Amino acid sequence: MHVVMAADYDQMSRKAAYVVAGRIILKPDCVLGLATGDTPKGLYRELVRLHRSGDIDFSGVSTFNLDEYIGLAPEDPDSYHRYMEEHFFRFVNVPPERRHLPDGDASDMAAECRRYEASIERAGGIDLQILGLGRDGHIGFNEPDVKFEKGTHCVRLDSSTIEANARFFSDAGKVPKRAVTMGIRTIMRARSLLLLASGPEKAEALRGAVLGPVTPELPASVLQLHPDATAIVDEAAARLLR
Ligand code: F6R
Repeated sequence: MHVVMAADYDQMSRKAAYVVAGRIILKPDCVLGLATGDTPKGLYRELVRLHRSGDIDFSGVSTFNLDEYIGLAPEDPDSYHRYMEEHFFRFVNVPPERRHLPDGDASDMAAECRRYEASIERAGGIDLQILGLGRDGHIGFNEPDVKFEKGTHCVRLDSSTIEANARFFSDAGKVPKRAVTMGIRTIMRARSLLLLASGPEKAEALRGAVLGPVTPELPASVLQLHPDATAIVDEAAARLLR
């Protein structure tokens, strides 16, 4: 995995935005894989800025998000649908019919997983997948001991992830226990991967992802096997890489 250093969170976000912007400039109809959580908020802010200045146009772009909680309707304020609306979609011109997130409120979740995989394939596959990093090394909601061969599937969240994500909910007891996520197979099929990591609490997981053995115990370690994976990381997250 190629590692790009950034001084801090803001610089990491700007560098990531330039990478994404470069893709869109070279391939205006590119397919982006998107993530939620705290890490990519700065990236979205920078992409909105580049869009407002006229440098990037999202009118030909398609997007597929990594994951969604099961049991939350798209309009639920805690859903990833709403997160994407609030942090990105409402500020840019990705056509609504080209924005895709798995439906965590579908009546048949197994069918929803198959539908989501098929729609990624129909779009021609993902050109550039953005990834955040869980403290336990998860990517998407692929928790430790994941099976690398899985496509989009439903998961039970680890207690550490439920605890970490409680900060996004008004009531910690409301964090869903299950989610639907692209699998490692889906992620590894993207033509390029861009992992972002910031802050000291990611240092341990980042060391495992970049330097550790490739193991399902640290799902992000699988990225070492991808032919075009880059991590943009700040000093605090990179503390254990030296
Ligand atoms: C979100 C996602 C998760 C997060 C990870 C890190 O779509 O897939 O894997 O990227 O939990 O979250 P933050 O960025 O909040 O530390």
